[in-house]
Amino acid sequence: EKGGYPDFMMKEIYEQPRVVRDTLVGRLSGAGEIDIDELGLSFEELNLVDRVYIIACGTSLHAGLIAKNNIESWARIPCEVEAASEFRYRDAIITPSTLVVAVSQSGETADTLAAIRDARIKGAKVFGITNVVGSPVARESDGVIYTKANKEIAVASTKSFIGQVVSLTLLAMLLGQVKGRLTPGQTRMLFRDLGDTAGYIQKVLDTQSAAIAEAAAACAHASSALFVGRGMGAAVSFEGALKLKEVSYLHAEAYAAGEMKHGPIALIEPGFPVIAVATKSAVYDKLVSNLKECEARGAKIIAVATEGDEEIGRIADHVIFVPKTCEAFMPIVATVPLQLLAREVALMRGCDVDQPRNLAKSVTVE
Ligand code: M6R
Repeated sequence: EKGGYPDFMMKEIYEQPRVVRDTLVGRLSGAGEIDIDELGLSFEELNLVDRVYIIACGTSLHAGLIAKNNIESWARIPCEVEAASEFRYRDAIITPSTLVVAVSQSGETADTLAAIRDARIKGAKVFGITNVVGSPVARESDGVIYTKANKEIAVASTKSFIGQVVSLTLLAMLLGQVKGRLTPGQTRMLFRDLGDTAGYIQKVLDTQSAAIAEAAAACAHASSALFVGRGMGAAVSFEGALKLKEVSYLHAEAYAAGEMKHGPIALIEPGFPVIAVATKSAVYDKLVSNLKECEARGAKIIAVATEGDEEIGRIADHVIFVPKTCEAFMPIVATVPLQLLAREVALMRGCDVDQPRNLAKSVTVE
């Protein structure tokens, strides 16, 4: 059942190029339009959308953080991302032109379901993104996209996260088209670049194992670790830290790097691991200067960086390289080495990567 892999977590990480490809099948029409038939919303209804809430928990929430950036930049619709457990108990501003996007691998997370019900009572359109056909999230939403991850067995989500991010990216592109901001030509180019991430993930899987193992050895015996990034890199950091905590029980936190000097930098002492999502972007130089501040205090820096970056090796003790992508799709590729890093650290610490203590695959009670 593990297909020759030592554990389900690894098998599922290695399935991710396929998940990207399968999630994109049939989604671009000959006319260059994003095709999400199952949306259950007409073009006119979508055109009225003036606010998006993405509600989810855990890893699914992190997929939402990534999507927020793309929805706001392609469709110029304000998008908030919120833990379902918070959203359900507060008086969020919901009108009939609000689109609520509920993201849930299992499709049965109690808080996410409660938030869906509440949003619908208040008149919002609710769109579900789930991996489980016929699940409560699918049944209770106005429309649904199924991520094509297939059954995910390891408790820590990996491939379903990638399916969620790709599905949310399609939704962001669709909203961009509906709002008249993405032309069919631009959409075709984005769609092609999105598809290319399957090959980039494969390249990370094929080439970075040794670098990841070295980086894992460097932090496996720490008592705490800090993940940092900026922009999309911050969202990836949140997922990296969650994965590490879940499977290795090593305490990890994630911060937008610009926040370091507002508190977390006090943690840094010689040997403290800082894991940075340091891919090339408009804020790369800003991130590097944050890392220099960590380096000056003796942090051990592990960087996920863009292939060809010769500068990063001067401050990072360990570098894991990922192929260059546009910023919008960077998280799809840059998350993968952090999943592998979490798994390696967990194995070095003698943990069961498929069944971490205290966690369940489906959280059906709040
Ligand atoms: O099934 P869901 O996506 O609704 O689950 C949400 C979280 O419980 C889930 O992502 C959890 O954080 C995972 N253990 C992450 O690896």
